[in-house]
Order: sequence, then C-alpha cells, then structure tokens
Amino acid sequence: MRRKLVVGNWKLNGNLARNKALLGEVRVGGFVEGVDIAVCPPFPYLQQAGDVLSGSGVLLGAQDVSAYQEGAYTGEVSGPMLVDLGCSYAIVGHSERRSLFGETDSRVASKVGAALAAGLTPIVCVGESHSQREHGEAEQVVAAQLESIVAAIDIKLLDRLVVAYEPVWAIGTGLTATPEQAQSMHVFIRRCLGRSGVDSDGVRILYGGSVNAGNAVQLFNEKDIDGALVGGASLVFDGFKAICEAASKASL
Ligand code: 13P
Repeated sequence: MRRKLVVGNWKLNGNLARNKALLGEVRVGGFVEGVDIAVCPPFPYLQQAGDVLSGSGVLLGAQDVSAYQEGAYTGEVSGPMLVDLGCSYAIVGHSERRSLFGETDSRVASKVGAALAAGLTPIVCVGESHSQREHGEAEQVVAAQLESIVAAIDIKLLDRLVVAYEPVWAIGTGLTATPEQAQSMHVFIRRCLGRSGVDSDGVRILYGGSVNAGNAVQLFNEKDIDGALVGGASLVFDGFKAICEAASKASL
C-alpha cells in the first residue's frame, strides 16, 4: 500500500515572525501516524523551517529547483543546495510557474532530472485549465505533460517520482474536483506512467486544488488519491492538521 503524503505549499507567503508561530505548531502537532508530511516554504525560509522542524518527523520541501547544478545562473537555487538545507522534496512545474513564469514542459523535465540527480523527490505538477476540461481535453493535456518527462528521463528513476494532479481551475478558487473526477484522472496518470514503462504501482499521486478540512476525507477515501498538495489551507495550522489527520484515518 502506498503511504499517504500531505505537502503544504506555502507559495509566496510568510515572514520570520509568522513562520516561527506556524512552524512551532507544525513541529509540536504536525506529525500524525502513517502519513508523510512536508512543508514547502519560500527559499529564504528553508533554513528557518529546517531548524524548527528538525527531529519532528515533518519533512522539508522547496517550491522549485533549478535545472542547473552550479555556475553563472543568477537567481537560481540548485538541487544540491536544497539537499544541503535539509530538503527531501522539490515541487516542479507548478501551474503558477508554467503560466506566470513561462516554464515549458521541457524545462520542467530538466528540473525533474536535476532534482532526481541531487537525491530530491520531485513532486511534479500536472493539470488542465478550465477551458481544456470543458473541451474534453483534460486527459490529453495531462498525458502530454507526463510524456515530456518520461521521454527525457531514465525510466528506472521515475518510480521515485511523486505526481500532483492539480486542475488549474481548482487552485485557489474554492472549486474542488469531485473525488470521482480526481480518482479518474489519478487512474489515468498511473496508467500513462505504466504504459511508458514506469513501475507506477508505487508512485504516489497527490491531488491539489482547494483541499481543505471539509473535503479531504472524501478525497483520501479514493483508492488512487495518495495524499494532497495543499496551498491556502496549509497556512493555518488547524486546517492543515485536520487534512493530515484525514490522511491518517484513510490509511488505517
Ligand atoms: P490551494 O489549496 O490554495 O487551492 O492551492 C493548491 C496548490 O496550488 C498547491 O500547490
């Protein structure tokens, strides 16, 4: 059975004082039985988060990773640097990076390769826009996003991947994919990876998009929903904790 994983993506939020309070709560109460839990603060706060969370069982992730290891790449943060700071995970190809910062499928694939080479677990985000879903293109869009990764990377490494299905129309909107919609896409993603030769049974596929304490239980009860990538609700401890507990309950 795949162990559930709940990841808080803080996005561009926080400051030293607010983080101290939230991380303190996560440190004391964030660990729950049977679930991997991680938080992804902005780069400048990774050290702070690593210090506070050290020994708590809650893991650390970054919101992005450079495709490059080192050198003249101003503004980039590499996989080895993230490992140095104690990161286990790196989110790659979030839809906000794709749409606002011009990340292409091939750039995302390079970043996945760099993360794997550094020993990080990439959390690769895929998902369709509202109009793509309306036009019946959701599966085609997600398949193409996955294909660029499997085409670029040694298949044997890809069972280490975590995939996050984040329909763009559900991010920060309060609209959530129904458990059935999400389950159906998760099965499709697993099948796509399997067809490409990835040992996909063990690949964790998270759902992301307006996950909260009220909808997490139903989502986690679906067989192929292996956890969540949580945005807004990860910034308030009680909400995040409730999502982690829902994952724990669904694992029993
Ligand atoms: P929200 O949970 O705020 O909808 O954000 C989802 C997300 O983008 C997580 O990466």
